[in-house]
Amino acid sequence: MAAKRSSRPETMAVHAGPAPDPNHGGVSVPIYQTSTFSFRSADEGAARFAGTDPGYIYTRLGNPTIRALEQCVAELEGGHAALGTASGMAAVSTTFLALLRPGDHVVGTDAVYGPSRLLLEKQLSKFGIESSWVPTEDLEAVRRAMRQTTRMLFVETPANPTIKITDLDACGKLAREKGTLLVVDNTFSSPVLQNPIRFGADVVIHSMTKYLNGHSDVVAGMIVAADAGLHAEIGSMLRSLGGTMDPHQAWLVLRGIRTLALRVRQAQESASRLAPWLEVHPAVAWVSYPGLPSHPQHDLMRRQMAGPGSMISFGVRGGLEAARRMIDSVRLATLAVSLGGVETLIEHPASMTHASVPRAEREAAGIRDDLVRLAVGCEAWEDIRDDLDRALAAAVPAR
Ligand SMILES: Cc1ncc(COP(=O)(O)O)c(C=O)c1O
Repeated sequence: MAAKRSSRPETMAVHAGPAPDPNHGGVSVPIYQTSTFSFRSADEGAARFAGTDPGYIYTRLGNPTIRALEQCVAELEGGHAALGTASGMAAVSTTFLALLRPGDHVVGTDAVYGPSRLLLEKQLSKFGIESSWVPTEDLEAVRRAMRQTTRMLFVETPANPTIKITDLDACGKLAREKGTLLVVDNTFSSPVLQNPIRFGADVVIHSMTKYLNGHSDVVAGMIVAADAGLHAEIGSMLRSLGGTMDPHQAWLVLRGIRTLALRVRQAQESASRLAPWLEVHPAVAWVSYPGLPSHPQHDLMRRQMAGPGSMISFGVRGGLEAARRMIDSVRLATLAVSLGGVETLIEHPASMTHASVPRAEREAAGIRDDLVRLAVGCEAWEDIRDDLDRALAAAVPAR
Protein backbone atom coordinates (compact mmCIF):
# COMPACT_ATOMS: atom_id res chain seq x y z
CA MET A 1 0.00 0.00 0.00
CA ALA A 2 1.34 3.42 -0.99
CA ALA A 3 1.32 4.95 2.51
CA LYS A 4 3.71 2.31 3.75
CA ARG A 5 6.45 4.07 1.77
CA SER A 6 6.66 6.69 4.49
CA SER A 7 5.53 7.43 8.01
CA ARG A 8 5.86 11.19 7.45
CA PRO A 9 2.44 12.89 7.74
CA GLU A 10 2.92 14.98 4.56
CA THR A 11 3.46 11.84 2.48
CA MET A 12 0.87 9.76 4.29
CA ALA A 13 -1.86 12.41 3.88
CA VAL A 14 -1.24 12.38 0.12
CA HIS A 15 -1.00 8.60 -0.34
CA ALA A 16 -2.84 6.85 2.49
CA GLY A 17 -5.69 4.61 1.34
CA PRO A 18 -5.95 2.26 -1.59
CA ALA A 19 -3.69 2.42 -4.65
CA PRO A 20 -5.14 4.05 -7.85
CA ASP A 21 -8.44 2.67 -9.10
CA PRO A 22 -7.75 -0.90 -10.34
CA ASN A 23 -10.39 -0.67 -13.10
CA HIS A 24 -9.18 2.36 -15.07
CA GLY A 25 -6.19 3.70 -13.12
CA GLY A 26 -7.99 6.85 -11.96
CA VAL A 27 -5.55 8.70 -9.70
CA SER A 28 -8.47 10.10 -7.70
CA VAL A 29 -10.74 7.49 -6.08
CA PRO A 30 -13.96 7.17 -8.14
CA ILE A 31 -17.25 8.20 -6.53
CA TYR A 32 -19.45 5.11 -6.40
CA GLN A 33 -22.67 7.08 -6.09
CA THR A 34 -24.93 4.08 -5.82
CA SER A 35 -27.19 2.82 -3.07
CA THR A 36 -26.98 -0.83 -4.09
CA PHE A 37 -24.68 -3.24 -5.98
CA SER A 38 -25.85 -5.87 -8.47
CA PHE A 39 -25.01 -9.57 -8.13
CA ARG A 40 -24.09 -11.63 -11.18
CA SER A 41 -26.07 -14.60 -9.86
CA ALA A 42 -28.18 -15.81 -6.95
CA ASP A 43 -25.11 -17.73 -5.75
CA GLU A 44 -22.98 -14.59 -5.74
CA GLY A 45 -25.66 -12.66 -3.82
CA ALA A 46 -25.90 -15.42 -1.26
CA ALA A 47 -22.11 -15.57 -0.95
CA ARG A 48 -21.89 -11.84 -0.33
CA PHE A 49 -24.47 -12.07 2.44
CA ALA A 50 -22.65 -15.10 3.87
CA GLY A 51 -19.41 -13.10 3.86
CA THR A 52 -17.58 -15.64 1.68
CA ASP A 53 -17.51 -13.19 -1.27
CA PRO A 54 -15.96 -9.82 -0.31
CA GLY A 55 -18.00 -7.81 -2.86
CA TYR A 56 -20.34 -5.00 -1.92
CA ILE A 57 -24.08 -5.37 -1.22
CA TYR A 58 -25.65 -2.05 -0.21
CA THR A 59 -24.05 1.31 0.61
CA ARG A 60 -25.15 1.39 4.26
CA LEU A 61 -23.19 -1.83 4.68
CA GLY A 62 -20.15 -0.73 2.67
CA ASN A 63 -19.12 1.22 -0.44
CA PRO A 64 -15.74 1.44 -2.23
CA THR A 65 -15.46 5.25 -1.96
CA ILE A 66 -16.28 5.19 1.75
CA ARG A 67 -13.94 2.22 2.20
CA ALA A 68 -11.10 4.21 0.58
CA LEU A 69 -11.57 7.02 3.10
CA GLU A 70 -11.80 4.54 5.98
CA GLN A 71 -8.53 2.91 4.94
CA CYS A 72 -6.89 6.30 4.59
CA VAL A 73 -7.85 7.52 8.10
CA ALA A 74 -7.05 4.13 9.70
CA GLU A 75 -3.54 4.35 8.23
CA LEU A 76 -3.09 7.96 9.32
CA GLU A 77 -4.09 7.05 12.88
CA GLY A 78 -2.15 3.77 13.00
CA GLY A 79 -5.38 1.88 13.76
CA HIS A 80 -6.63 -1.55 12.74
CA ALA A 81 -9.55 -0.23 10.66
CA ALA A 82 -12.02 2.66 10.56
CA LEU A 83 -15.73 3.34 10.05
CA GLY A 84 -17.04 6.45 8.31
CA THR A 85 -20.10 8.09 9.86
CA ALA A 86 -22.62 10.73 8.82
CA SER A 87 -21.27 13.25 11.38
CA GLY A 88 -18.85 13.52 14.27
CA MET A 89 -21.78 13.06 16.67
CA ALA A 90 -22.78 9.88 14.81
CA ALA A 91 -19.24 8.64 15.51
CA VAL A 92 -19.54 9.54 19.22
CA SER A 93 -23.05 8.11 19.68
CA THR A 94 -22.35 4.90 17.74
CA THR A 95 -19.21 4.26 19.78
CA PHE A 96 -21.03 4.83 23.08
CA LEU A 97 -23.99 2.65 22.09
CA ALA A 98 -21.72 -0.12 20.83
CA LEU A 99 -19.43 -0.28 23.85
CA LEU A 100 -21.65 0.65 26.83
CA ARG A 101 -24.31 -1.41 28.64
CA PRO A 102 -26.88 -0.49 31.33
CA GLY A 103 -25.04 -0.05 34.64
CA ASP A 104 -21.80 1.07 32.97
CA HIS A 105 -20.07 4.26 34.03
CA VAL A 106 -18.01 6.68 31.92
CA VAL A 107 -15.36 9.10 33.16
CA GLY A 108 -15.01 11.99 30.69
CA THR A 109 -13.05 15.20 30.19
CA ASP A 110 -15.11 17.99 31.77
CA ALA A 111 -14.56 20.40 28.87
CA VAL A 112 -15.51 18.03 26.04
CA TYR A 113 -17.57 19.17 23.09
CA GLY A 114 -20.91 20.07 24.76
CA PRO A 115 -23.18 17.67 22.80
CA SER A 116 -20.90 14.67 23.60
CA ARG A 117 -21.43 15.36 27.28
CA LEU A 118 -25.13 16.03 26.81
CA LEU A 119 -25.52 12.72 24.96
CA LEU A 120 -24.34 10.82 28.03
CA GLU A 121 -25.98 13.02 30.67
CA LYS A 122 -29.38 13.53 29.03
CA GLN A 123 -29.88 10.66 26.60
CA LEU A 124 -27.87 7.61 27.63
CA SER A 125 -28.67 8.16 31.32
CA LYS A 126 -32.20 7.00 30.33
CA PHE A 127 -30.68 3.60 29.60
CA GLY A 128 -28.85 3.33 32.92
CA ILE A 129 -25.46 4.61 31.77
CA GLU A 130 -23.82 6.98 34.24
CA SER A 131 -21.08 9.54 33.69
CA SER A 132 -18.69 11.70 35.73
CA TRP A 133 -16.86 14.69 34.29
CA VAL A 134 -13.45 15.65 35.58
CA PRO A 135 -10.47 17.71 34.42
CA THR A 136 -8.66 14.75 32.85
CA GLU A 137 -5.41 16.76 32.72
CA ASP A 138 -5.37 15.93 36.47
CA LEU A 139 -4.69 12.19 36.55
CA GLU A 140 -5.54 11.93 40.26
CA ALA A 141 -9.00 13.38 39.54
CA VAL A 142 -9.48 10.69 36.88
CA ARG A 143 -8.36 7.95 39.27
CA ARG A 144 -10.71 9.22 42.01
CA ALA A 145 -13.69 9.32 39.63
CA MET A 146 -13.26 5.71 38.55
CA ARG A 147 -15.66 3.11 39.94
CA GLN A 148 -15.95 -0.66 39.75
CA THR A 149 -18.43 -0.10 36.93
CA THR A 150 -16.29 2.32 34.91
CA ARG A 151 -16.22 0.86 31.43
CA MET A 152 -14.87 3.83 29.46
CA LEU A 153 -12.49 6.73 29.87
CA PHE A 154 -13.56 9.34 27.29
CA VAL A 155 -10.88 11.94 26.68
CA GLU A 156 -10.83 14.97 24.44
CA THR A 157 -7.35 16.46 24.11
CA PRO A 158 -6.71 19.28 23.50
CA ALA A 159 -10.07 19.94 25.11
CA ASN A 160 -12.71 22.20 23.68
CA PRO A 161 -12.56 25.18 24.27
CA THR A 162 -10.10 25.37 27.16
CA ILE A 163 -7.23 23.86 25.08
CA LYS A 164 -6.07 21.92 28.15
CA ILE A 165 -4.08 18.77 27.39
CA THR A 166 -4.55 15.32 28.90
CA ASP A 167 -1.65 12.88 29.24
CA LEU A 168 -2.63 10.06 26.89
CA ASP A 169 0.19 7.75 27.90
CA ALA A 170 -0.81 8.01 31.59
CA CYS A 171 -4.50 7.53 30.71
CA GLY A 172 -3.66 4.50 28.57
CA LYS A 173 -1.78 2.93 31.48
CA LEU A 174 -4.56 3.76 33.95
CA ALA A 175 -7.21 2.33 31.60
CA ARG A 176 -5.26 -0.94 31.26
CA GLU A 177 -4.72 -1.12 35.03
CA LYS A 178 -8.47 -0.69 35.65
CA GLY A 179 -9.64 -2.77 32.69
CA THR A 180 -11.52 0.12 31.06
CA LEU A 181 -11.56 1.29 27.45
CA LEU A 182 -9.80 4.50 26.47
CA VAL A 183 -11.72 6.42 23.80
CA VAL A 184 -10.14 9.65 22.51
CA ASP A 185 -11.77 12.43 20.50
CA ASN A 186 -8.81 13.52 18.34
CA THR A 187 -10.71 16.17 16.37
CA PHE A 188 -8.66 19.13 17.62
CA SER A 189 -5.28 17.63 16.73
CA SER A 190 -5.94 15.64 13.57
CA PRO A 191 -3.73 12.60 12.96
CA VAL A 192 -0.97 14.92 11.73
CA LEU A 193 -0.30 16.17 15.25
CA GLN A 194 -1.34 13.29 17.52
CA ASN A 195 -2.00 9.54 17.23
CA PRO A 196 -3.74 8.38 20.45
CA ILE A 197 -3.53 4.67 19.54
CA ARG A 198 0.26 4.92 19.95
CA PHE A 199 -0.41 5.82 23.60
CA GLY A 200 -2.85 3.00 24.27
CA ALA A 201 -6.22 4.35 23.05
CA ASP A 202 -8.69 1.63 22.04
CA VAL A 203 -10.83 3.88 19.85
CA VAL A 204 -10.18 7.26 18.22
CA ILE A 205 -13.06 9.48 17.11
CA HIS A 206 -12.97 12.34 14.62
CA SER A 207 -15.40 14.97 13.61
CA MET A 208 -14.06 15.05 10.03
CA THR A 209 -16.15 18.18 9.60
CA LYS A 210 -13.05 19.94 11.00
CA TYR A 211 -9.39 19.52 9.99
CA LEU A 212 -9.68 16.27 8.02
CA ASN A 213 -12.08 17.75 5.49
CA GLY A 214 -10.78 21.25 6.08
CA HIS A 215 -13.03 23.33 3.84
CA SER A 216 -16.15 23.97 5.97
CA ASP A 217 -18.35 22.28 3.38
CA VAL A 218 -18.97 18.76 4.75
CA VAL A 219 -20.28 17.26 8.01
CA ALA A 220 -18.78 13.81 8.63
CA GLY A 221 -17.20 11.57 11.27
CA MET A 222 -14.85 8.61 11.64
CA ILE A 223 -14.31 5.89 14.25
CA VAL A 224 -10.88 4.25 14.24
CA ALA A 225 -10.53 1.04 16.27
CA ALA A 226 -7.23 -0.29 17.53
CA ASP A 227 -8.19 -3.94 17.04
CA ALA A 228 -10.45 -6.20 15.01
CA GLY A 229 -12.82 -7.06 17.88
CA LEU A 230 -13.69 -3.43 18.63
CA HIS A 231 -13.99 -2.65 14.92
CA ALA A 232 -16.49 -5.50 14.47
CA GLU A 233 -18.51 -4.54 17.55
CA ILE A 234 -18.76 -0.87 16.59
CA GLY A 235 -19.35 -1.71 12.90
CA SER A 236 -22.28 -3.92 13.78
CA MET A 237 -23.86 -1.09 15.81
CA LEU A 238 -23.22 1.44 13.03
CA ARG A 239 -24.95 -0.72 10.44
CA SER A 240 -27.93 -1.18 12.80
CA LEU A 241 -28.22 2.50 13.67
CA GLY A 242 -27.67 3.55 10.07
CA GLY A 243 -25.60 6.70 10.67
CA THR A 244 -23.29 5.82 7.78
CA MET A 245 -21.72 8.14 5.20
CA ASP A 246 -22.71 9.04 1.69
CA PRO A 247 -20.15 8.25 -1.08
CA HIS A 248 -19.93 11.84 -2.28
CA GLN A 249 -19.38 13.06 1.27
CA ALA A 250 -16.56 10.47 1.60
CA TRP A 251 -14.95 11.59 -1.64
CA LEU A 252 -14.96 15.25 -0.54
CA VAL A 253 -13.30 14.40 2.77
CA LEU A 254 -10.70 12.23 1.02
CA ARG A 255 -9.91 15.13 -1.28
CA GLY A 256 -9.57 17.43 1.74
CA ILE A 257 -7.20 15.01 3.50
CA ARG A 258 -4.70 15.20 0.64
CA THR A 259 -3.76 18.72 1.83
CA LEU A 260 -4.25 18.03 5.55
CA ALA A 261 -0.60 18.29 6.56
CA LEU A 262 -0.09 21.51 4.59
CA ARG A 263 -3.18 23.15 6.08
CA VAL A 264 -2.44 22.03 9.63
CA ARG A 265 1.14 23.32 9.44
CA GLN A 266 0.19 26.66 7.85
CA ALA A 267 -2.53 27.32 10.45
CA GLN A 268 -0.23 26.21 13.27
CA GLU A 269 2.52 28.55 12.06
CA SER A 270 0.08 31.48 12.18
CA ALA A 271 -1.31 30.46 15.60
CA SER A 272 2.25 30.21 16.96
CA ARG A 273 2.79 33.83 15.98
CA LEU A 274 -0.61 35.11 17.10
CA ALA A 275 -0.60 33.54 20.59
CA PRO A 276 2.46 35.41 21.97
CA TRP A 277 1.18 38.61 20.36
CA LEU A 278 -2.20 38.17 22.07
CA GLU A 279 -0.52 37.33 25.39
CA VAL A 280 0.97 40.82 25.67
CA HIS A 281 -2.01 42.66 24.15
CA PRO A 282 -3.43 45.19 26.68
CA ALA A 283 -7.05 44.18 25.92
CA VAL A 284 -6.36 40.47 26.53
CA ALA A 285 -6.54 39.07 30.08
CA TRP A 286 -5.11 35.59 29.44
CA VAL A 287 -4.27 33.19 26.59
CA SER A 288 -4.47 29.40 26.43
CA TYR A 289 -2.31 27.97 23.65
CA PRO A 290 -0.16 24.86 24.16
CA GLY A 291 2.70 26.37 22.16
CA LEU A 292 3.19 29.07 24.83
CA PRO A 293 5.61 28.29 27.67
CA SER A 294 2.90 29.70 30.01
CA HIS A 295 0.50 26.88 29.08
CA PRO A 296 0.32 24.44 32.03
CA GLN A 297 0.81 21.40 29.79
CA HIS A 298 3.38 22.92 27.41
CA ASP A 299 5.96 20.16 28.15
CA LEU A 300 3.34 17.43 27.82
CA MET A 301 2.31 18.86 24.43
CA ARG A 302 5.93 18.57 23.26
CA ARG A 303 6.06 14.91 24.33
CA GLN A 304 2.66 13.88 23.05
CA MET A 305 1.98 16.01 19.98
CA ALA A 306 3.93 16.90 16.84
CA GLY A 307 2.93 20.56 17.37
CA PRO A 308 0.57 22.83 19.32
CA GLY A 309 -2.07 23.13 16.59
CA SER A 310 -4.09 26.18 15.64
CA MET A 311 -6.77 26.54 18.33
CA ILE A 312 -6.33 29.50 20.69
CA SER A 313 -8.61 30.53 23.54
CA PHE A 314 -8.23 33.90 25.20
CA GLY A 315 -10.01 36.12 27.68
CA VAL A 316 -11.09 39.62 26.68
CA ARG A 317 -10.69 42.24 29.40
CA GLY A 318 -14.14 43.43 30.39
CA GLY A 319 -15.76 39.97 30.53
CA LEU A 320 -18.88 38.80 28.74
CA GLU A 321 -19.93 42.10 27.13
CA ALA A 322 -16.42 42.94 25.92
CA ALA A 323 -15.99 39.41 24.51
CA ARG A 324 -19.25 39.68 22.60
CA ARG A 325 -18.36 43.17 21.32
CA MET A 326 -15.03 41.82 20.15
CA ILE A 327 -16.45 38.97 18.10
CA ASP A 328 -19.03 41.37 16.64
CA SER A 329 -16.19 43.62 15.44
CA VAL A 330 -13.99 41.22 13.43
CA ARG A 331 -14.01 41.60 9.64
CA LEU A 332 -11.59 38.98 8.30
CA ALA A 333 -12.36 36.23 10.81
CA THR A 334 -15.81 34.73 10.43
CA LEU A 335 -18.16 34.63 13.41
CA ALA A 336 -19.14 30.96 13.31
CA VAL A 337 -18.83 27.79 15.35
CA SER A 338 -16.71 24.89 14.02
CA LEU A 339 -12.99 24.84 13.33
CA GLY A 340 -10.34 23.27 11.12
CA GLY A 341 -11.36 24.99 7.88
CA VAL A 342 -9.08 27.14 5.72
CA GLU A 343 -10.77 30.28 7.03
CA THR A 344 -10.28 31.69 10.54
CA LEU A 345 -13.40 31.29 12.71
CA ILE A 346 -14.18 33.00 15.99
CA GLU A 347 -16.89 32.16 18.55
CA HIS A 348 -18.03 32.64 22.15
CA PRO A 349 -18.37 29.14 23.71
CA ALA A 350 -20.27 30.18 26.89
CA SER A 351 -23.19 31.49 24.80
CA MET A 352 -22.78 29.19 21.77
CA THR A 353 -21.14 25.72 21.63
CA HIS A 354 -21.21 25.19 25.41
CA ALA A 355 -24.42 27.07 26.28
CA SER A 356 -26.10 23.68 26.90
CA VAL A 357 -23.72 22.95 29.81
CA PRO A 358 -25.12 24.42 33.09
CA ARG A 359 -23.24 27.59 34.11
CA ALA A 360 -21.72 26.15 37.31
CA GLU A 361 -20.37 23.10 35.47
CA ARG A 362 -19.18 25.27 32.59
CA GLU A 363 -17.26 27.56 34.91
CA ALA A 364 -15.83 24.62 36.86
CA ALA A 365 -14.52 23.31 33.53
CA GLY A 366 -12.83 26.68 32.84
CA ILE A 367 -15.29 27.86 30.17
CA ARG A 368 -15.51 31.41 31.39
CA ASP A 369 -17.75 34.19 30.09
CA ASP A 370 -14.76 36.20 28.82
CA LEU A 371 -13.44 33.24 26.76
CA VAL A 372 -13.21 33.73 22.99
CA ARG A 373 -12.23 30.74 20.88
CA LEU A 374 -10.18 31.37 17.77
CA ALA A 375 -9.78 28.62 15.17
CA VAL A 376 -6.89 29.96 13.13
CA GLY A 377 -7.13 29.31 9.39
CA CYS A 378 -4.68 29.49 6.49
CA GLU A 379 -4.68 33.26 5.86
CA ALA A 380 -1.47 35.33 6.28
CA TRP A 381 -0.99 35.69 10.02
CA GLU A 382 -0.43 39.46 9.77
CA ASP A 383 -3.95 39.89 8.34
CA ILE A 384 -5.48 37.88 11.19
CA ARG A 385 -3.45 39.91 13.70
CA ASP A 386 -4.60 43.23 12.23
CA ASP A 387 -8.22 42.06 12.29
CA LEU A 388 -8.01 40.95 15.94
CA ASP A 389 -6.23 44.17 16.89
CA ARG A 390 -8.98 46.28 15.35
CA ALA A 391 -11.71 44.20 17.00
CA LEU A 392 -10.02 44.31 20.41
CA ALA A 393 -9.66 48.10 20.16
CA ALA A 394 -13.38 48.38 19.35
CA ALA A 395 -14.33 46.11 22.26
CA VAL A 396 -12.01 47.38 24.98
CA PRO A 397 -11.47 51.15 24.74
CA ALA A 398 -7.95 52.18 25.84
CA ARG A 399 -7.93 53.67 29.33
C1 LIG B 1 -14.25 17.95 19.43
C2 LIG B 1 -15.51 17.68 18.68
N1 LIG B 1 -16.02 16.44 18.69
C3 LIG B 1 -17.17 16.15 18.03
C4 LIG B 1 -17.86 17.12 17.34
C5 LIG B 1 -19.15 16.76 16.63
O1 LIG B 1 -18.92 16.70 15.26
P1 LIG B 1 -20.05 17.00 14.13
O2 LIG B 1 -20.40 18.43 14.23
O3 LIG B 1 -19.32 16.63 12.87
O4 LIG B 1 -21.19 16.09 14.41
C6 LIG B 1 -17.36 18.42 17.30
C7 LIG B 1 -18.08 19.48 16.55
O5 LIG B 1 -17.84 20.65 16.71
C8 LIG B 1 -16.14 18.70 17.99
O6 LIG B 1 -15.63 19.95 18.00
